[in-house]
Amino acid sequence: MQRILIDTDPGVDDALALFLALKSPELRVEAITSVSGNVHVEQATQNVLTILGVLELDEVPIVAKGEAQPLVKPLVTAAHVHGEDGLGNISTLRNADGSPRYLPADTEISSTPGVALILEMARHYPDELVVVALGPLTNIAKAIRTDPVSMRRLRNIVVMGGAFEEYGNVTTTAEFNIFVDPHAAQDVFNFGVPVHIAPLDATNQVVLTGERLHAEIAGRRDSVSQFLKDSTVACMEFYRQHVWSRRSLQANIETDGIHIHDALPIGILTHPAYFESVDAYVQVETEGNLTNGMTIADLREEPQPQHPKARVCVKVEAETFLTHFFERIR
Ligand code: BDR
Ligand code: CA
Repeated sequence: MQRILIDTDPGVDDALALFLALKSPELRVEAITSVSGNVHVEQATQNVLTILGVLELDEVPIVAKGEAQPLVKPLVTAAHVHGEDGLGNISTLRNADGSPRYLPADTEISSTPGVALILEMARHYPDELVVVALGPLTNIAKAIRTDPVSMRRLRNIVVMGGAFEEYGNVTTTAEFNIFVDPHAAQDVFNFGVPVHIAPLDATNQVVLTGERLHAEIAGRRDSVSQFLKDSTVACMEFYRQHVWSRRSLQANIETDGIHIHDALPIGILTHPAYFESVDAYVQVETEGNLTNGMTIADLREEPQPQHPKARVCVKVEAETFLTHFFERIR
């Protein structure tokens, strides 16, 4: 069993990652910290509670509110992808009697701020705790700046972020989580605790098509299936209009669906055999105008011994992973 803390900015794919993590017996989710990214941290924290509400857990992990602003840059959000509320606008849905369809879990948000909770957990589980970062790396970088000694005792940091031999999804060169807070990402990648990165190069290999989703949840009346159906509508439409129309021109493929980026780090922890990774020295461009937030690594060469090494996931058995995902979240 691996003890993990999930740092997240929900986000539809963050929700899928939380479902997968909380339904993986290999993992024990000790805490969840929120951060500004897809939506502002206030909304992100509410979304964590809504996601936990969907799961109807007996034992709810500690939830703490993290940082509202990136280290240096002004915040950029992604409501155009994930909906105004970050979860495909499910907050507007009502039952027949007019009550909200989705209610938050019955739990209090911790009075400890997110960064302090990360440090508390790192001290409480030295050499054991894995941090899974599914949003901008602001909270993790602040925890490193506050108490590097405690943070050195993390076992590993698994990050969804970056794009190496693939176009970015915010700019040509930058992936969203790194683009929002490149200074934080640079700090985390240079810190020296082992980092395993799931960049767009890997996450773009997994496509959850509308057809697949509907086949998987057809006839099911459970709350997770209902959530999957409701929360993905806006994202599917965004991808149809802005992602597949362009990619089909480049690659001559016709498809639809969404990527479930944030679910991959969870799979990397529980089923590493589904993934191929290489060692690399990863740097982040924090200054560039056209290249701000770009992740840079030479994936062809072994990194120099004096450099901090990251593992970069380059390949995933996409179909195996998707099948596993649906088996687990049922
Ligand atoms: C990442 O950005 C966010 O929009 C997603 O939740 C994911 O973490 C993908 O670039
Ligand atoms: Ca995310």
